[in-house]
Amino acid sequence: MKGFFRFVGSRRFSIPLIVGPFLYLSWVFYSNQHEESKNLPEAEGKIETEEFDTSLFTVTDEEFQQATSKADSGTQQDLVVNLHEKITDDTGNIAVAYFICVLCLTPLKILLRRNKLISALNRHRRTVGLACFFYTMLHLAIYLTNGLKTLWDEITRLYIAAGFSAFAILLVMALTSNNWTQRKMGGRKWKKLHRIVYIAIPILIYHRAFAGKVSAETIRETFIWFSPVIILQILRIWKQIKEQKARA
Ligand code: HEM
Repeated sequence: MKGFFRFVGSRRFSIPLIVGPFLYLSWVFYSNQHEESKNLPEAEGKIETEEFDTSLFTVTDEEFQQATSKADSGTQQDLVVNLHEKITDDTGNIAVAYFICVLCLTPLKILLRRNKLISALNRHRRTVGLACFFYTMLHLAIYLTNGLKTLWDEITRLYIAAGFSAFAILLVMALTSNNWTQRKMGGRKWKKLHRIVYIAIPILIYHRAFAGKVSAETIRETFIWFSPVIILQILRIWKQIKEQKARA
């Protein structure tokens, strides 16, 4: 058992933790490309047999080419839009999952001080936090592939503004998550600064719940996702107050 805890606390354990979601995203991308190549001949077939029955009317070569290219790009475009939306959603959800994990590790350490598994997992807090930032950057980069015009048109939407606010908080955290800054700032100041992460919780709840197609389901799902963080943070505060009272 000792060996297991040592492995969980080692660097080797953090590699699949970071690379795993990347492999999943590559698989999503690959399977979509595969689907795309499968759909193309189907679309061509449909046009020839259904839309252009030459026994009923005559079409010029130019008209035929125009129509077929439109239909082709229609099916292809649908797949590209679906892939873009899927990868935006997936990268966002992966980033949120890391965010939730990192916010659960601290209270778990306080609540279960002697638990070896929690202590071993807590060694990866910085890595998990940086992974959250990495997938957030990927999420933003994929969103921006639609062009800066989309950003300009959508920046006034509250959920996009919320996304950027959360991104700014994560950026500050990522830039200061190194031993050099921690030493320069001093432990107390550094800890105080890193408390801004709590501001990101309601912002991200809003962003996730109201991004894209809003429904009662997405709102409920978001609260379910964030419930471990909320419950553990409440328990942590309760335990700290209890300990303070006992000391007084
Ligand atoms: C940097 C600024 C951000 C922008 C411009 C942005 C943009 C978007 C957009 C456009 C969507 C909706 C995609 C769709 O059509 O379904 C979305 C969804 C989402 N974003 Fe962001 N986002 C940002 C930051 C963040 C951050 C910081 C996180 C988390 C750490 C995040 C997590 C999510 C999640 C979880 C979803 C919902 C996925 C789902 O519905 O399954 N986003 N974001």
